[in-house]
Amino acid sequence: MSEPLKGKTAIVTGAARGIGLGIARKLSELGAAVSVWDIRAEIKDGNGFAPAELRQVDVSSLKSVEEAFAGTLARFGAIDILVNNAGINGPVLPAWEYPETDWQRVLAIDLNSVFYCSRTVIPHMRERKSGRILNIASMAGKEGVQYIAAYSAAKAGVIGFSKAIAKELAMDNVLVNCIAPAMVETDLLAEMTAEHIRATRAKIPMGRLPQIGEVASLAAWIVGPECTFTTGFVFDLSGGRATY
Ligand SMILES: NC(=O)c1ccc[n+]([C@@H]2O[C@H](COP(=O)([O-])OP(=O)(O)OC[C@H]3O[C@@H](n4cnc5c(N)ncnc54)[C@H](O)[C@@H]3O)[C@@H](O)[C@H]2O)c1
Repeated sequence: MSEPLKGKTAIVTGAARGIGLGIARKLSELGAAVSVWDIRAEIKDGNGFAPAELRQVDVSSLKSVEEAFAGTLARFGAIDILVNNAGINGPVLPAWEYPETDWQRVLAIDLNSVFYCSRTVIPHMRERKSGRILNIASMAGKEGVQYIAAYSAAKAGVIGFSKAIAKELAMDNVLVNCIAPAMVETDLLAEMTAEHIRATRAKIPMGRLPQIGEVASLAAWIVGPECTFTTGFVFDLSGGRATY
């Protein structure tokens, strides 16, 4: 297999399982040295996959992120790619019944984390005049999905943040893009109701959910050497659901 990412280093947050694990594995297969940042201390269902580094980090804490970055930079010497993937769904409830503590938790893990990791890594990328940042948003951030208002708001925030910093970094060769997947079958679905999952699947014209491998392949292209003139963009992975 060709290794277009050979010599590159990547941080992938929330990659101890699910979509992040799929992205970390794909980037590794393409030659990158990958540092997995996750609140979990172990890879789940890795089937033998061992990243170059596994670091326990709480991405909703700026202090934890800054400490992790110092450690990862000391280990690898340079960071080329940051994938902000860590996230939670939160409860499925009407907004007027949504506990304030859950609202704060979802915003902290899904949105503040993207700001914290980006602001920590960007000065290094600017200095090197090279970098790729990929943020995993969601169709919920584009459409707004009923009963997951906090998640929808956080993911819309991720999209707005990405577009803003993409412009700030346009002359630094640091490209910032998002992927907005439809519902993917991962452990995240354990936080959702069966009715919510059924209703979401029914919205997809292709009649199925995307696979983790499909997210990982798109992610690899976005952070890879062939993506050179696209920044501030949201790549949909929605089986025809997205209308804009
Ligand atoms: N599964 C879906 O349907 C779907 C759809 C669209 C977007 N997404 C997004 O994709 C991303 C990954 O989702 P997934 O389905 O793989 O979820 P998942 O629950 O399987 O994995 C999320 C990972 O994030 C980690 N994590 C959670 N809080 C953390 C914290 N504070 N610090 C560090 N790591 C933390 C978890 O330990 C876990 O390994 C999320 O941002 C999610 O919102 C998922």
